Amino acid sequence: MSGRFITFEGIDGAGKSTHIDALAERLRHMGQHVVCTREPGGTPLAETLRGQILQSAMDPLTEALLVFAARRDHIQQVIAPALAQGHSVLCDRFTDATFAYQGAGRGFDSDVLSTLETWVQQGLQPALTFWFDLPAETAAERRAAARSPDRFEQLDVHFFNRVRQGYAHRMEQSPQRFARLDAAQSREQVWAQVVAQMEQRGW
Ligand code: TMP
Repeated sequence: MSGRFITFEGIDGAGKSTHIDALAERLRHMGQHVVCTREPGGTPLAETLRGQILQSAMDPLTEALLVFAARRDHIQQVIAPALAQGHSVLCDRFTDATFAYQGAGRGFDSDVLSTLETWVQQGLQPALTFWFDLPAETAAERRAAARSPDRFEQLDVHFFNRVRQGYAHRMEQSPQRFARLDAAQSREQVWAQVVAQMEQRGW
């Protein structure tokens, strides 16, 4: 039996994290084995690359290559083995973030990203992607109240508007894979949307 691969996306400040934990809890109560992980990261090597990606200035191709290098290690060491054992994998960000941040946000060539996606993933795609969508201005207010910013979180509202458009474009390309959530609602209302999407699929 193969497990389910579910990813969580959205601009910084969209509020994904608590819902990932809550969904893991819910699935475990239903008797599933659940692996929670994140990108960039999820393995010792990929976590080291994450530190560089989030802190060091670099050119856009270098950034894209490091993100996909981390992803390759993560898929091989964690995601593919877990799915093969029938575990569900909940991943905080995946390749849609690369198209949204490096592609739409930074303006890097999406054809190159598509080539890297094919090489690195060899057909692996999430079964479901939750897109926590909210206006860039609302997300900026939430971030300001929450934490000290990394290299991406320091970018302005125009950057995050482009990232948001990038997610919208990815959803247009794979509408069956995406569930868009209105992340401007209260935490309880967003959680209700998550549960409704899972129930719709009989999960
Ligand atoms: P996080 O704060 O949600 O853990 O995400 C880390 C940052 O890395 C976030 O600002 C988005 C960025 N990122 C990319 O730019 N490209 C990617 O492919 C991924 C997975 C994350």
